[in-house]
Amino acid sequence: MIAPSVLSADFLNLGRDVDMINNSEADLFHVDVMDGRFVPNISFGLPVIKAIKKLARKPLDVHLMIVEPEKYFQDFKNAGADILSVHYEASTHLHRSLQAIKALGMKAGVAINPHTPVSLLADIINDTDLVCMMSVNPGFGGQSFIPNTINKIKELRQIINEKGASTLIEIDGGVTLENAAALKAAGADVLVAGNTVFTAEDPIKTIAELQRLSK
Ligand code: DX5
Ligand code: ZN
Repeated sequence: MIAPSVLSADFLNLGRDVDMINNSEADLFHVDVMDGRFVPNISFGLPVIKAIKKLARKPLDVHLMIVEPEKYFQDFKNAGADILSVHYEASTHLHRSLQAIKALGMKAGVAINPHTPVSLLADIINDTDLVCMMSVNPGFGGQSFIPNTINKIKELRQIINEKGASTLIEIDGGVTLENAAALKAAGADVLVAGNTVFTAEDPIKTIAELQRLSK
């Protein structure tokens, strides 16, 4: 699956960019929420997500890069999130958070920073619908891919198989036309792409190309 990241969209023409994603082969909208505390950047919040939801014809995959995410689950549900991911590093009671997200009718995701070993997910993987594996340090679009992510994908795929889980592996950060096939081969299910899609001359064609490379 391909999930273009709205963080790299043109906010003055957000409707146009949402429509472009609607009309493309993309599967999901990846929506990055940053609070200036968990990450050193602030992106956008609930009103913008509500606006995107009005026009979006594909599910919203909302990635919370915020501290105390559990305070806002209901708000993100109301804003239109279909998948809601919290950071492992921001969650003291991760199991409780995942259950709360699911109880609200959303798919529950866990995001992990590049320094967080995937082995830490072994006891939570069966409760996790999606792992958002950061392949850059979270906070900014347009950074370069951290190569060790490939090893982490393989290791996580093994844990998922051993545990008989149906968790999706999503790769977030630095995804390009050059590395998409290798990510798929290592075991990734969902590729997030911000910079690669939105700096392309023809974003629709680039999304189609990413789909083809990761089939
Ligand atoms: C980074 C965000 C990513 C970002 C990816 O903190 O979580 O979703 O938008 O952007 P690119 O694809 O440009 O690395
Ligand atoms: Zn993200």
